[in-house]
Amino acid sequence: MDLKMDLKKEFEMIFHRSDSIKYFLAPGRVNLIGEHIDYNGGYVFPCALNFGTYALVRKRDDNRIRMYSKNFNHVGIIEFHLEELVYEKNHDWANYPKGVIKIFKDNGFKVDKGLDILFYGNIPNGSGLSSSASIEMVMGVLLKEMFNINISMVEMVKMAQRAENEFMGVNCGIMDQFAIGMGKEDNAILLDCNTLEYEYAPISLKDHVIVIANTNKKRGLADSKYNERRRECEEGLHGLQEKLSIDNLCDLNREQFEENKLSINDEVVRKRAKHAVYENERTKKAVKALNDNNIHEFGKLMNESHISLRDDYEVTGYELDTLVELAWKEEGVIGSRMTGAGFGGCTVSIVEKNRVDEFIANVGEAYKNVIGYEADFYVATIGNGAREI
Ligand code: GLA
Repeated sequence: MDLKMDLKKEFEMIFHRSDSIKYFLAPGRVNLIGEHIDYNGGYVFPCALNFGTYALVRKRDDNRIRMYSKNFNHVGIIEFHLEELVYEKNHDWANYPKGVIKIFKDNGFKVDKGLDILFYGNIPNGSGLSSSASIEMVMGVLLKEMFNINISMVEMVKMAQRAENEFMGVNCGIMDQFAIGMGKEDNAILLDCNTLEYEYAPISLKDHVIVIANTNKKRGLADSKYNERRRECEEGLHGLQEKLSIDNLCDLNREQFEENKLSINDEVVRKRAKHAVYENERTKKAVKALNDNNIHEFGKLMNESHISLRDDYEVTGYELDTLVELAWKEEGVIGSRMTGAGFGGCTVSIVEKNRVDEFIANVGEAYKNVIGYEADFYVATIGNGAREI
């Protein structure tokens, strides 16, 4: 484990001690299908990746928290007291883990000693593979372990989501934290975001692999656009609730939606609601297709998901659409779509194993010609959830 050794050396350089440190890892995640419906009470189908955010930690004798990220080394050490858990703009990335400590304390869990923590993430930031939920969850498992807190993973998942909602002001759903907390090697998770019931689905694609492609687009307004979509869904739900007794958009099936959609006045809001209802149905169908070993059907549903996110939900944009459309043209591609919040970030494709190199070369070159800069490609391996390592 060279990485652990390297990080330990770095820890010692930054904090001048490295006795009795502990190591933690929370993965990133990729969502296979079921996009933008976790906050609409729908089904999602994500999996944890085999890379993510590492944290090395050592308890202090006082009540100061000192955090350092190897990814943002120019920011230096960020330091605060356990009594000062407030959002501070100049604390930058450290607000994510700080928010988690705050929520733990608000929930009555005893965090009564300071910590020195070094973070290092190998999820590209802003790539839509959930670097934020990953740092939140690594902070969660670290607190649990360092302070002997008796808490289940699902409770921790909910607290990490609250940290992002309340502390960071991003109204995210539960999918990312759940996938990162509960991930299991070689399995995707079918999660009912309404009840939090879930089941693991083994992903054995035999002659195929999951390829993630990063548009490398800078995602400026992603958070505000994300919150805007949430508001639009709420508006759509209110419209439908005039006629129907439902709690979530995803309580409806297609037919019920089509019969009642005109109770949503605004045409744009109607399209957003349509996406939610149809995407939920697609996700259920896709998981069934996978269980029936019908990978082509799964791929077809991925493609339809992208079209819906492009035309009805409008969260794709030129770079994501280009990358997906180029993928669709390649031989050996079973399906391709954007993944995560959108507005940039990554696509996920299922590609025949023996055509992967060709896929990366062709799509990579064509993308660069159209967009002017390069995309990055990773063949994904599905890993385990957040844990001590
Ligand atoms: C972001 C959010 C998730 C989910 C996805 C879209 O990743 O954090 O809760 O809404 O976008 O599916």
